Amino acid sequence: MSELTDEIRRRRTFAIVSHPDAGKTTLTEKLLLFGGAIHVAGAVKSNKIKKTATSDWMEIEKQRGISVATSVMGFEYDGYKINILDTPGHRDFAEDTYRTLTAVDSVIIVVDTAKGVEAQTRKLMEVCRMRKTPVMIFVNKMDREGKDPFDLLDELEQELQISVRPLSWPIDRGVKFKGVYNIYEKKLDLYTPSKQKITESIAFKDVSNPELEKYIGTDLAGQLRADLELIEGVYPEFDVNTYLKGDAAPVFFGSALNNFGVKELLDCFVHIAPSPRPVTAEEREVNPEDAFAGFIFKIHANMDPNHRSCIAFLKICSGKFERNTNYKHVRFNKMMKFSSTTAFMAQKKETVDEAFAGDIVGLPDTGNFKIGDTLTSGEELHFKGLPSFSPEMFKYIENADPMKAKQLNKGIDQLMDEGVAQLFINQYNGRKIIGTVGQLQFEVIQYRLLHEYGAQCKWEPIGLYKACWIESDSPEALDNFKKRKYQYIAKDKQDRDVFLADSNYVLQMAQQDFPDIRFHFSSEF
Ligand code: G4P
Repeated sequence: MSELTDEIRRRRTFAIVSHPDAGKTTLTEKLLLFGGAIHVAGAVKSNKIKKTATSDWMEIEKQRGISVATSVMGFEYDGYKINILDTPGHRDFAEDTYRTLTAVDSVIIVVDTAKGVEAQTRKLMEVCRMRKTPVMIFVNKMDREGKDPFDLLDELEQELQISVRPLSWPIDRGVKFKGVYNIYEKKLDLYTPSKQKITESIAFKDVSNPELEKYIGTDLAGQLRADLELIEGVYPEFDVNTYLKGDAAPVFFGSALNNFGVKELLDCFVHIAPSPRPVTAEEREVNPEDAFAGFIFKIHANMDPNHRSCIAFLKICSGKFERNTNYKHVRFNKMMKFSSTTAFMAQKKETVDEAFAGDIVGLPDTGNFKIGDTLTSGEELHFKGLPSFSPEMFKYIENADPMKAKQLNKGIDQLMDEGVAQLFINQYNGRKIIGTVGQLQFEVIQYRLLHEYGAQCKWEPIGLYKACWIESDSPEALDNFKKRKYQYIAKDKQDRDVFLADSNYVLQMAQQDFPDIRFHFSSEF
């Protein structure tokens, strides 16, 4: 096998996602401990954005600064190179999370055993489903009272709309939690609360062996046998290919806080999770072993006002990236080379000379990059699949300092390129509308416009329900629709037509009255 193939095959690039508080940070930390990337528990805790009140967003930005280091966490484990892409916990930065999901090859979803599937998990799963991303589920907090595991599996299947297949099974739960039976490896893992070291597994191929009673007692042994029998009867045999196609999710149970069930998850994960997969560009399908190509999925601003520089995060889709080598910036049709390229190993940033498909490299950016920009060895490629979703909150943005109109426009332009929020221009009155997922983003924009561009903005309310991208096979129908709804038509930053619906009712009526128009809630269609 060539070095390139070898390097690509051992890469696992993924994100851990959850509704806030389900245990994403704790699980990430435990995975880093296994990889030897950190040595003490608590090291990842600084990224507690979600815990901060909305009004305290300066603190949030400070923490966001810290979180550059934890944006990508790379480490070696058992011969694999693992890249965990962090996603912001705060729901107001959900758009960041969606974009990060375009740069991963698989996802681990963490679910709280007591709370089950929560709002944000559902939304994130929608994105995974859209992209057919393979998903694994970790049911966390088994040391606490929670739902019946069979009920939980039903809930996962229904709410996340994916077939599930348990690969481990809990033995009791809450204070009586005894451990899990690892169906995947046929091992018994017994639980000791607050144990800091890795669980010792007992190989246990045949649960009918009376030895089982010795470990977990007669009642639980009987229960476990019955449960496993039911699982075999109800759930189809685990098939890696259905997982890889994004059609079925293996489920593990454990307690991240107690470091229980985490190693089992990781061991199974490295075996079955995909290495970098082919990525579809507009021109062709790009295979990981092709010549170098990658795209920018995230831009992180430096919050130090004296030093306006950003880091652009490049996901390498194919080939090998080398420092100080000329690559084509496709949008500029220009060759560029980078001398300071950052790799993210553990929580340190360090300069790298080379990186491979699956890896993320940080490039210093002084305004050259937009989200979605492609870099290649020379070929003209445009990667698809960086969707924008209809924002949930909208405001008109107005200039509050007439002397600084130019600065304001430049600031808005650049912040939108960075993906901070979405901009729509109302075609009727020419006013600029900013769409976000949460209030916090408006505050971030206002602050950054002032501190980085010296521009002052003010917000004016606009009663909007959704922005939908519209298209039609019939240019006349589209034209007619735009004429009829002329006050509610906008263009997004890519100059695509957008319908601004001020209520759900209006949207439904429009869908009913204009059957030739397709309304899309994400920009990828
Ligand atoms: P998040 O990143 O998904 O938002 O969740 P995070 O890991 O921060 O975990 C949320 C809370 O749940 C934390 O408690 C954490 O200690 C706790 N937790 C995580 N895994 C487990 C588990 O397996 N069992 C139990 N019982 N609790 C778990 P906290 O009190 O909010 O924070 P902290 O003071 O412990 O840091």
